[in-house]
Amino acid sequence: MARQVLLFVYLLSLSSVRGQVSYSIPEEMPKGSLVGNIAQDLGLDLKRLKSGKARIYTGDSAEYIELNKERGLLLIKERIDREALCGQTMPCALHFQIILENPMELFRVTIEITDINDNSPVFEKSEIKFRISESAVIGSKFALERAMDPDVGVNDLQSYALSPKENFNLKIKNQPDGTKLIEMVLQTALDREKRDEIYLILTAVDGGDPKLSGTAQIYVTVLDVNDNAPIFSQPLYKSTVNENALKGTILGQVSASDADRDGNGDIIYSITNTMDNVRDIFDVNANNGEIMVRGQIDFEKARHYEIHIQATDEGGLTDSCKMLVDVLDVNDNIPSVNVLSMSKTIIENSKPGTVVAMLNIQDPDSEQNGQITCSINDNLPLALKSASDHFYSLVTDTDLDRERESGYNISIMCSDEGSPSLSSSVTLTLQISDVNDNAPVFERSSYVASISENNTPGLSIIRVKARDADWNQNARVSYILQDSSVNGVSVSSYVSVSADSGIIHAVRSFDYEQIKDFQFRVIAQDGGSPPLSSNVSVKIVIQDQNDNAPQVLYPVQTGSSLVAEIVPRSAEVGYLVTKVVAVDVDSGQNAWLSYKLQKATDRALFEVGLQNGEIRTVRQVTDKDAVKQKLTVVVEDNGHPSRSATVNINVAVADSFPEVLSEFTDFTHDNDNLTFYLVLAMAVVSFLFIVSIIAILSVKCYRWRRERIFHKSGANLPVIPYYPPFYADVGGTGTLQHVYNYEVCRTTDSRNSDMKHARPSSDSIISLDTSGTHTLTHVQREKMVHGYPDTQVRFKLSDKKACPITLCYRL
Ligand SMILES: *[C@@H]1O[C@H](CO)[C@@H](O)[C@H](O)[C@H]1NC(C)=O
Ligand SMILES: *[C@@H]1O[C@H](CO)[C@@H](O)[C@H](O)[C@H]1NC(C)=O
Repeated sequence: MARQVLLFVYLLSLSSVRGQVSYSIPEEMPKGSLVGNIAQDLGLDLKRLKSGKARIYTGDSAEYIELNKERGLLLIKERIDREALCGQTMPCALHFQIILENPMELFRVTIEITDINDNSPVFEKSEIKFRISESAVIGSKFALERAMDPDVGVNDLQSYALSPKENFNLKIKNQPDGTKLIEMVLQTALDREKRDEIYLILTAVDGGDPKLSGTAQIYVTVLDVNDNAPIFSQPLYKSTVNENALKGTILGQVSASDADRDGNGDIIYSITNTMDNVRDIFDVNANNGEIMVRGQIDFEKARHYEIHIQATDEGGLTDSCKMLVDVLDVNDNIPSVNVLSMSKTIIENSKPGTVVAMLNIQDPDSEQNGQITCSINDNLPLALKSASDHFYSLVTDTDLDRERESGYNISIMCSDEGSPSLSSSVTLTLQISDVNDNAPVFERSSYVASISENNTPGLSIIRVKARDADWNQNARVSYILQDSSVNGVSVSSYVSVSADSGIIHAVRSFDYEQIKDFQFRVIAQDGGSPPLSSNVSVKIVIQDQNDNAPQVLYPVQTGSSLVAEIVPRSAEVGYLVTKVVAVDVDSGQNAWLSYKLQKATDRALFEVGLQNGEIRTVRQVTDKDAVKQKLTVVVEDNGHPSRSATVNINVAVADSFPEVLSEFTDFTHDNDNLTFYLVLAMAVVSFLFIVSIIAILSVKCYRWRRERIFHKSGANLPVIPYYPPFYADVGGTGTLQHVYNYEVCRTTDSRNSDMKHARPSSDSIISLDTSGTHTLTHVQREKMVHGYPDTQVRFKLSDKKACPITLCYRL
């Protein structure tokens, strides 16, 4: 240990202070270290020290030094820290006295404490933080904290250093008060984008030996300044969107970046279009740049959009980009079918190609989605024709027939070719109006009706009916009797037709024996304009009633007959005596005659053929048999009830004519009488005949005129002359063919029509002609006058060779 011992010897007065000693020692000497040999320096004997009870007096101060009396040395009692003892005061010394007794002596001792470099410079804060904007200008100063060093002198703080030196320099300024101002000066510009944190170390060094130093760390945070604009990653974006995209559909994302940080780097996106409706349709997420749909996109309104997007940072720096959006068509429009004009009805005889309706059909979609095909339901006589773009006409393509189909429901179905396809339809109703194109049609091709004779006039016989397929007035059928003649008389005098119902009524009472059937035609006519008509034949068959009794033609009946059939006595069994010939003008069963023997003089001798009326002998004639035989034969028809006639036959059984004559002499007297009556009758009849002829002629003339008047009106004529047709009948005995010519005089009361009598008259053999087909052409003219007693007188006017006229007269 280096020690400097300064020895000051003061001569002190004997009374109080004998001497003064100074020492200089460094601080921080260990305990027990030698400060100085005080005995020697004060020139005192060690014994004196002991005897004088030398001691150190410090007053109130701490005792750092002790006195070793045995060796006369001053030693360090307590470690001395100069900085604690004196601080920055220089020089720093300990002052105390050494006091001796016997005699009392006082010595002043001063110990100067010298500094050693035992303290490093110290910064109060070891970390210093700065926040410096990157835009700080060069030369900006930032004050730093000073370091402290308790040492003094050279041991005190001497210098500072800052590292690294890139951005900042250190500048130390002496201030008037002697302190130093330490500043950090920006010498190169900061750029947060390159380096946002700077770390520096400030070192303080003292002047001791060795030098001690202290450090402080400086953290510089470079604060961002909005010195960078946002930049979009692409200037142009492209996207597509379906029309009708839902709101919120994201089309894409634009993105811009900003090199700044924090607020300065925060980008807000916005759409800047102003002139169009883009902002109504699209929206951008201000934070992330997602472009989304917010409105209704309709391909049919706009097919492209150009969205201008701007990115703005908080400092207001911007960039912009565009997004081109193509709208994709979606088949979202159903074809629209508009009826421009439509006929509600069309006349049924319209020509094919008649336009019924005009339609406008369109689909605003594009391409396939807008391609329309239309169809109408099947089985219609109509076709859809394309007139021009979007225009169609509905035309008839075949003939129409209201009677087949009176109207059509036309459903027009249009569909586009989109996928899925959309379609729409319209239903039109077309009525076919009627044209009178159908004639009435009778339900049957012909009608046959039968009516019993002797009917009451006005009786309905049959109903004819015709249908007309047309409509309303065109289908209203009325019935008309077509005029024709039956037996030379207008048919209207036989029947009438009810115009509305088609019921055919008998106008008169029919007589089968006069007319068996007749035909006429009924016209059915509709109410169209012009009317159409058709006709049908109606045949009326008159049915026979058994209203006529059989009439015996042979043998001719006279009041008292002279005529007799002669049977020779030699006649064999089965000899044909005669044949009763009768006819019945009725027909069928009603005319089927049977013959029976009713009375006979000798029933055992004759028989009558039931069917043929032949009278034959049934046994050998004998002499005993009377000459004069009388037979009564009844002729009966088969009607219900049956009618009959009787005939008396005289038979003479004789071998010679004189025999017969003698037998029948009483007849001669009768003959004289008869002759007289005949002559008388002849005269009367001749007169009446002439009168009758005149009467008939005048009546005929009158009728002829009336007929001309009534002919058209078809009125029931009171007197109708007619000529019965060829009359053929099969009697029980063979075929008889007669031509009758009647003239019937009747009253206007036609109900008394049963007064007719047919009186075929002939005195000749008419039935046994060998040929059987011989035709008798006796024209018999009969005149019957109603209302006279039922008595008949018959006159034969001529012989059988001539044309006989028999007048049958009811007197
Ligand atoms: C047309 O439609 C109407 C109502 O749907 C129906 O009453 C009518 O019978 C239809 N007509 C035809 C001809 O189908
Ligand atoms: C009756 O019908 C036929 C065809 O059926 C026709 O030829 C004739 O002219 C018609 N007569 C009348 C009067 O209408």
